[in-house]
Amino acid sequence: MNKPRYIIAPSILSADFARLGEEIDNVLLAGADWIHVDVMDNHFVPNLTMGPFIVKCLRDYGITAPLDVHLMIEPIESLIEPFAKAGATYITFHTEATRNPRDIIQRIREFGCKPGIAYNPPAPIDNLEDLIDDIDMVLIMSVHAGFGGQSFMPETLNKVRQAAEIIKLSGKSIRLEIDGGINANTIGLALEAGADTFVMGSAIFGAENYAETIEKVRKILNFS
Ligand code: DX5
Ligand code: ZN
Repeated sequence: MNKPRYIIAPSILSADFARLGEEIDNVLLAGADWIHVDVMDNHFVPNLTMGPFIVKCLRDYGITAPLDVHLMIEPIESLIEPFAKAGATYITFHTEATRNPRDIIQRIREFGCKPGIAYNPPAPIDNLEDLIDDIDMVLIMSVHAGFGGQSFMPETLNKVRQAAEIIKLSGKSIRLEIDGGINANTIGLALEAGADTFVMGSAIFGAENYAETIEKVRKILNFS
């Protein structure tokens, strides 16, 4: 199966929520591929953000781009169906938030979404080989999950390299996403380590010109 080489997924956590639909229209017009939706529960992470209602509002508003839902919640089970029905495309969760990652993956698929698994900086990826055949995406956090606008942690790149190797050995078309502190200075490092899907929050929504910012990082991706 062919997959687009590189994906840029702006995280709406850093968007202006009073004008959310317009912000997403603008970022898609500026060349973004997916929209990254950070779901935080004030339990698995200290922050509290959005639920399925926002995803449904975005679909009702007319957003057709893939919605990349990143669950930073615990427990996970009961929210899969609502997010799927609201219009999520990918649903990614942290395996440390469940004892049954395989059941969660299966449930995500049953509801017609693509499952992904995420790893915080301290979380080892030693269950990845076991789960690789069942997932569509691996997400390596390059900051501690919880807030936008943090600094990139270069020590997480080793995990990106390990995940890239495991994906390659699987022979499957699985995306390798990196999330946290990605900007024009750090995206090259993530690319070199093997990432192909780049979440960018503050670097895009904090910029004056979204198109210029996306064009700049795309150039780095295409010419590295
Ligand atoms: C952090 C979130 C990220 C965050 C990225 O917990 O998962 O998606 O919004 O924001 P930046 O790009 O500003 O680090
Ligand atoms: Zn995220």
